[in-house]
Amino acid sequence: MRSRFLPSLPAAPERPPGIEAYYRMHAGIYDATRWSFLFGRDAILERAAAAQPAPARILEVGCGTGRNLVALARRFPRAQITGVDLSGEMLAIARRKTTPYGSRVTLLRRAYDAPVAAARGHQLVLCSYALSMFNPGFEAAIEAARRDLVPGGHLALVDFHATRQRWFARWMGVNHVRMDGHLRPLLRETLSPVTDRVCRAYGGVWEYLLYVGRKA
Ligand SMILES: C[S@@+](CC[C@H](N)C(=O)[O-])C[C@H]1O[C@@H](n2cnc3c(N)ncnc32)[C@H](O)[C@@H]1O
Repeated sequence: MRSRFLPSLPAAPERPPGIEAYYRMHAGIYDATRWSFLFGRDAILERAAAAQPAPARILEVGCGTGRNLVALARRFPRAQITGVDLSGEMLAIARRKTTPYGSRVTLLRRAYDAPVAAARGHQLVLCSYALSMFNPGFEAAIEAARRDLVPGGHLALVDFHATRQRWFARWMGVNHVRMDGHLRPLLRETLSPVTDRVCRAYGGVWEYLLYVGRKA
């Protein structure tokens, strides 16, 4: 029987329920499947490089299996790059891919609900198909990214934006993705837009957002 004199348990850390279990199942098929619907990942890297041609320190939030970390390490051979992700299984794949880049790439396993290195700052923070899964938590992540940037640094984001198809929104919800255009207003409020573009996927079944914002 519960005693009413027992101290209450500390609150569980804010993290999306089930995300780690979801990626435990999906990590093995992630790279073979996501090319067919995570559009704009190369385009956002182009736009990020146009905004920040030679960043010294880069952070990728929700780096997953490390596809973008490898692209960043190749494109910016002098940069120190950090990838943060909740999923140990996704990070294990990222670790294998980024081993050739040695100590230039650091991986952290944690929820991104606070800055990783606000004191030193990053010139570039990349969020690629991550924040639409931070439910709850996207507001804290955008604020953490703002604090992780140096003044004049850029956040580059590509993510699901919205859909008019209710069946699709429901299906994406089952897959932990929120798609009601909720990221764009907060991004616009937090960081001055350099790129702010909505693109259509599969003839308009859904839209995705390319956003590059500058910290004042
Ligand atoms: C769709 S994947 C994107 C991976 C990679 N950025 C890409 O473009 O392929 C989303 C990633 O976000 C991670 N993630 C979800 N919620 C997170 C959180 N609160 N903190 C850190 N990572 C999180 C997941 O574990 C997953 O690896």
